[in-house]
Parts: sequence; structure tokens; C-alpha cells
Amino acid sequence: MRPSVAILGAGSMGGILAEGLLRAGWDPGEVIMAARRPEQAQEAERFIGVPVVLDAAQAAAGRDVVVVAVKPKDVPTLLDQVAEAVTPPQLVISLAAGVPIAVFEKALPGVAVVRSMPNTPAAVDEGMTAYCGGSQVDSAALETAASVLAAVGQTINLSEDLLDAVTAVSGTGPAYVFLLAEALTEAAIREGLPHHAAEKLVLQTVRGAGILLATSPKSAFRLRAEVTSPGGTTASAMHTLEDGGFRALVEDAVRSAASRSRELGQEAAAQDQAG
Ligand SMILES: NC(=O)c1ccc[n+]([C@@H]2O[C@H](COP(=O)([O-])OP(=O)(O)OC[C@H]3O[C@@H](n4cnc5c(N)ncnc54)[C@H](OP(=O)(O)O)[C@@H]3O)[C@@H](O)[C@H]2O)c1
Repeated sequence: MRPSVAILGAGSMGGILAEGLLRAGWDPGEVIMAARRPEQAQEAERFIGVPVVLDAAQAAAGRDVVVVAVKPKDVPTLLDQVAEAVTPPQLVISLAAGVPIAVFEKALPGVAVVRSMPNTPAAVDEGMTAYCGGSQVDSAALETAASVLAAVGQTINLSEDLLDAVTAVSGTGPAYVFLLAEALTEAAIREGLPHHAAEKLVLQTVRGAGILLATSPKSAFRLRAEVTSPGGTTASAMHTLEDGGFRALVEDAVRSAASRSRELGQEAAAQDQAG
């Protein structure tokens, strides 16, 4: 049976999840959202097609699953608002980057909390969400969380200490691919291709390579080796990228994103202690 879901925060990620739940078969009556501005509530209600209320506690009360989809800095205020409305056996799923499970467990004693890190390809049901369960989460709660998160793509259960690395790889990952697409489009135009042709070539290449990589039994290394003939054009391009430190740069970018995620987590924990 599908759990009823309240999504607190009707912004980008909350909206993506709500739309994904509807596409996955949830009835509009089984999903409710909470916003904090009337304009946002009206807009989300119109575009998504589920009820949106201005009171997070009202949205959360009695729902099987309560999804926290506000920015990390807004989590403490939201938890204050819903502390009395959210009780066991309700399940809380947090999407908030960097906010430790302990912050939720302290505000909501006895409530099962799952922390997750989705990404924006969830908007086209191709998301990648890592999740981990807190101290009150049993296998049934973990399964329920996975069923909600799987509405928008694939899921993986990992321990909480790995979520900063997840944030740096799959959470931030779409931006790496978008940057590569931007750079490739600009390079294509500099090689003389018309703008519309450059965009089409790049979009379909990124899409085709992604689908091939995801569906082929071959590794990225093998697929790359197969298109790299000695002395050929791809070999020349690969040498340029390797000589320019491409791998080291990617490693630095991921390390820097993971480190920023850890900092944000520490800030969230400190904000909670101060509150
Ligand atoms: N976007 C991503 O790529 C991504 C990826 C992974 C995880 N996440 C996580 O997802 C969460 C949401 O991110 P987002 O990009 O969707 O942010 P967003 O677009 O700013 O959406 C958050 C929404 O929550 C609303 N809000 C804040 N406090 C509220 C309250 N007390 N009651 C009701 N609504 C409230 C905000 O209202 P206002 O408009 O008034 O501020 C805003 O509309 C974040 O914690 C983020 O770390 C995002």
C-alpha cells in the first residue's frame, strides 16, 4: 500500500518529488505540500496539482511519511513548527544537504528518520538518491523510505558518514555534466559549427553516452578505450585532457564539494545547538 506523504517545502526538490510521486501512481489526495508564502502555495498547487497548505504542522499531521524539503538553514525553524505534529510511527525523510540525522532525532524523539541525498535528474525519473536510516529506523521503515525515493529514480542505502562524498559525487554530479556540455558547446561553436547544430550535437552526445554507459556491461574505461584508436582524433583529445590535469581537477572538485558538505553539516549541527 502506498504511504500518504507530506512534503514540507514546495520549492525545487519538493516539487520534483511531488510530481514524481504522481507519475509513479500516487493519488493527488495521498500527497500534500506545505509552503510558507501564499504565492508559492498557489503556484505549486496550480502546477503540481496537489493541495498546498501554509502550515507545515497541518500538512504533516497524520501522514505516514513527512518529507523535509526546505533549505538546511530553514530546518531548525521547521522542526520547531512540526515537533508536536510528528510522532511515531510516522517516518521522516530529510532531503536537506548536510543536516545530521541527530538534529532530527533530537527535535522529534522516537520518530524514525531517514536522511537522503537526491539529485535533480529526479525531475525526469532518472534521479540517484542515497539514503541512510537513523536509530529508530527498522527494515519496514527503510523499505517505505526507499519506495518513496524510488518514485524519481534509483536509490542506494549507505551509511551516514558517506553522505558528504555522495553529495560531492551524485548530488553535485549533474552540474559537472552540465559544465562539460557548456564547454563542449562553446568549443563546437569556436570550431565553426552553428549554435543550433553545436547544441544538438552536444545534447545527443551527452544523452547517448550516458545511456550507453548505463546500459552497457562495459566499464567507462573500456568504452573509452574502444573509441580511442592509437594516433586517432580521440587519442589526441584524450592526451590534451590528461596533460591538462583533467583527472586531478575532477578529484579536486569532488574533494572540495565533500569538504563544503562537511562544513555545512557542522554549521547545521552548531545552529541546532545554539537554537
Ligand atoms: N536542488 C538540488 O539540486 C538538491 C539536491 C539534493 C538535495 N537538495 C536539498 O533539498 C532541499 C530543498 O532544496 P531546494 O533546492 O528545493 O530549495 P528551494 O527551492 O529553496 O525550496 C525550499 C522551499 O522551502 C520553503 N520553506 C522554507 N521554510 C519553510 C517552512 N517552515 N514551511 C514551509 N515551507 C518552507 C522555501 O520557501 P521560500 O521560497 O519562502 O524560501 C522554499 O520554497 C535542501 O535542503 C537541499 O539541500 C537539493
